[in-house]
Amino acid sequence: MLNIVILAAGQGKRMQSNRPKVLHTIAGRSMLAHVINGARALAADNIVVVVGHGAEYVQQAFAAQPDLQFATQQPQLGTGHAVLQAVQQLKEDGRDDVTIVLYGDVPLVQTASLQALLDAQGQGVAVLTEYLSDPTGYGRIVRDAQGKVCAIVEHKDASPEQRAITEVNTGILAAPTAQLKTWLAKLTNNNAQGEYYLTDVIGMAVAEGLAVNVAHPGAAYETLGVNSRAQQAQLERLWQLELARRQLEAGVTLADPARFDVRGNLTCGQDVFIDIGCVFEGTVELGAGVYVGAHCVLRDVTIGAGTRIEPFSHLDQAVVGVDAKIGPYARLRPGAALADRTHVGNFVEIKNARLGVDSKANHLAYIGDADIGERVNIGAGTITCNYDGVNKHRTVIEDDAFIGSDTQLVAPVRVGRGATLGAGTTLTHDAPPEKLTVSRAKQLTIEGWKRPVKKV
Ligand code: UD1
Ligand code: CA
Repeated sequence: MLNIVILAAGQGKRMQSNRPKVLHTIAGRSMLAHVINGARALAADNIVVVVGHGAEYVQQAFAAQPDLQFATQQPQLGTGHAVLQAVQQLKEDGRDDVTIVLYGDVPLVQTASLQALLDAQGQGVAVLTEYLSDPTGYGRIVRDAQGKVCAIVEHKDASPEQRAITEVNTGILAAPTAQLKTWLAKLTNNNAQGEYYLTDVIGMAVAEGLAVNVAHPGAAYETLGVNSRAQQAQLERLWQLELARRQLEAGVTLADPARFDVRGNLTCGQDVFIDIGCVFEGTVELGAGVYVGAHCVLRDVTIGAGTRIEPFSHLDQAVVGVDAKIGPYARLRPGAALADRTHVGNFVEIKNARLGVDSKANHLAYIGDADIGERVNIGAGTITCNYDGVNKHRTVIEDDAFIGSDTQLVAPVRVGRGATLGAGTTLTHDAPPEKLTVSRAKQLTIEGWKRPVKKV
């Protein structure tokens, strides 16, 4: 049985926030969600989150995951005391019962590193350690003459010789569950900080003759903790650089990996180009050869191969086919479904509307609650008047229709196949197929009219 205990009781004073620290985000996801997802990726049988400060908010934030266990630590008397609060919830079935301790404010530890930790654990204890040129503040890994780990000594308790040790405790460890429980019960707080140190279980394991092994994180960012907004911003950028590196490795061109932000899951086909300043949120899929111009925001969208999204476009919950052209300055809102080879140009807003193959709305239009067929041309300034102040109504425009500029379609209304609407039409009744429909005051020229002249 694999138990994972996530320590998340700390206040995070230095964040200067009324939100619990572990609910602050990295890449659009709370730090605690990162850690929980990591625990799930490791196929943990049981996840216990130790909460304290802002416990209700933390529990509320994960209400959609009813299998998560919570233990409350009040007051916070140290990391050992924190794990002790979870002891009753740790599960054992006699087969490889292991407990891993993770920190809610160390969000980016990767599954491979945790797997390495489990591999190192064997029947004993394993600690994730690393070497730091400046180990100040960290617990030091103390080894005996044979080089075996014999204790972890906290910085504040360490002798000058111990402080010279550069191998540090990242805080993440794995231990056999039954023994861990007995060790935690024996912890005392007579140390420099008057806390119950989780790290004291290392000495106890050694005293019982258990092997203590170490594993190392795959990358430095994995064990970085967040205690302040500055550290949060630093970790965010490190993580974005890592996400950028993975895209580059997979064959995506990024104009500048340092100006690339993914807050969700971005999947790209081959030869995608992404310019600077784009933000990808939720689930975004870009087909092969897609071009995304500078400063676009894409949230929960699927873009077909070969489509170009020109700069400053905002796409939210939309689907676009292949070889389409979107933007610059286009806005696709939820329910926009654009078929292959569609063109949507500058200052065009499309919401809950389908645009058929080869149809175009190139300039300044609002298309809402509409079904638009194939090869339709929507002129500049066209507006579907979909809302009567109470209800929404649909506009239907059939294949090959031509909508003249500055037309208002007062829904519900239908434009027949191949129909033409003259510029400036306010369409309040259906337009028949293949005919010109126009609503427009007749043009007049007044003979002999003179501009007024200024009185003296
Ligand atoms: C701990 C380790 C130290 C290690 C360092 C790595 C101990 C005694 N020391 O030190 O060896 O080098 O992490 O960053 O374990 N927490 C609770 N309840 C508590 C205390 C802490 O939930 O009562 C949580 C905190 O919210 C945080 C984590 O545990 O997420 C670590 O606590 P922190 O106070 O930062 O530990 P350190 O003293 O830095
Ligand atoms: Ca710390």
